[in-house]
Amino acid sequence: MDNSEVYVGLDIGTTSIKALVCENVKGQIKVIGVGVEPAAGMSRGVIVDIDKTARAISNAIAQAEEKSNIDIKQVIVGLPANYLQMQRVHGMITIANNGQSREIVDQDVLNLAREALTQSIPPERTVIDLVPTEFTVDGFDGIKDPRGMVGVRLEMKGTLYTGPKTIIHNAKKAIQKAGYTVRDFVVSPIATGFNLLNDGEQDFGTIVIDLGGGQTTTSIIHDHQLKYSYVDPEGGQYITKDISTVLNTSLKNAEQLKRDHGFADSTQADDNVQIDVDVVGQDKPVQYSERYLSEVIEARVRQIFNRVARQLERINAPELPGGVILIGGVAALPGISSLAKQYFSGNVKVFVPEQMGIRHPRFATSYALGLYEDRLSGIDRLIKQVVQEADFGKTTAENNDANHQPQSESAVNSNSRPIQKRADREQNTKKKDGSLSNKFKSLFNNLFD
Ligand SMILES: Nc1ncnc2c1ncn2[C@@H]1O[C@H](COP(=O)(O)OP(=O)(O)OP(=O)(O)O)[C@@H](O)[C@H]1O
Ligand SMILES: [Mg+2]
Repeated sequence: MDNSEVYVGLDIGTTSIKALVCENVKGQIKVIGVGVEPAAGMSRGVIVDIDKTARAISNAIAQAEEKSNIDIKQVIVGLPANYLQMQRVHGMITIANNGQSREIVDQDVLNLAREALTQSIPPERTVIDLVPTEFTVDGFDGIKDPRGMVGVRLEMKGTLYTGPKTIIHNAKKAIQKAGYTVRDFVVSPIATGFNLLNDGEQDFGTIVIDLGGGQTTTSIIHDHQLKYSYVDPEGGQYITKDISTVLNTSLKNAEQLKRDHGFADSTQADDNVQIDVDVVGQDKPVQYSERYLSEVIEARVRQIFNRVARQLERINAPELPGGVILIGGVAALPGISSLAKQYFSGNVKVFVPEQMGIRHPRFATSYALGLYEDRLSGIDRLIKQVVQEADFGKTTAENNDANHQPQSESAVNSNSRPIQKRADREQNTKKKDGSLSNKFKSLFNNLFD
């Protein structure tokens, strides 16, 4: 079934591939199938063996097809924030007809977006997304959608997101080998930021920390834009490895112990609850307390939180009104919020999708990808069209990443007031508290200037 009302989010994680089928039923998005497959050919968020990853993708999507009874063709693919770069762009076109102003139509927006994309992008990078912040018609700025207006000159400001061609090429190739096509690439923190946070959280500023298996991705959403991202190269796999080393047990056992008995905050674990652990080289299981196991877990999580907190301090963004939202599999550890509160100011909460079958924070990204396309506004769709024709088709195998400098941190230079972007916000006339809004605007202006 090739149904445009069906959206398939594909989250290619380091430890597992999640495929999630969403259907728009009378304006309500419903999850109608999910597939989860252990990942293969992945390292720290990126594909390192296309064939292995392709097989895992194929299995994950096949499960989702079976559960949803949908013949999947296209998928919306999340891209990791590794090596992501953000830059401000500006485009301007003349729309006058024989010197006379005329009504702005879709084609003008397409031409304008094409013009904005004529920025110099290094040959090893490719455009992933262009998010408009504001349109200006004959000098009148702050316009969300200029179509239907009359003018001579049309301008656009926005944020351009670029990533290494290799990452996108490998993802595209693996999906093709699995037998599917890419409907859209979306930077995962953009998908989660725009779809899991409420309007106020996106507007005033929120920190999202994706505690994945292979890495931890921290992003800042503010003024309805992804403003900053930082990828820490440690995740749940490290916790499992620590347990395996300290308790002298196999990785498989360690993973199970973590999930069944682990706490991120060891003070919440019971010292009297003893667990039998199969230890390498011993015939009989050895007993460890849940508290001891949790101390091992806590030590690693603290290291990750500590680095993330230092990074946020470095950019002078220790507290945002939206607080901190934790997603990713590691966020399922009991006590994770209370531990996080020791490192981050403001409210801390774990996001768990409410839909049946995906009530686990590891599904946050695939769920957000499934929602993403459905929630795009008319303007977003036009601009996406230009981004896709500009780049996705052109990634080539010759463009390898030999020249990439590892860069785990990205920020956008932003000092103009962005506009609300999504369709569901277009009617929103909520007034912000001036002082608070200004405070955080200046914070980000300082940060990115
Ligand atoms: N209940 C649980 N308790 C503790 N850890 C868990 C639990 N469930 C999953 N995890 C851990 O979460 C991690 C996987 O999370 P997730 O699926 O979000 O990562 P990923 O998307 O595969 O990786 P990444 O985002 O780093 O590329 C694994 O390390 C797994 O052990
Ligand atoms: Mg992930």
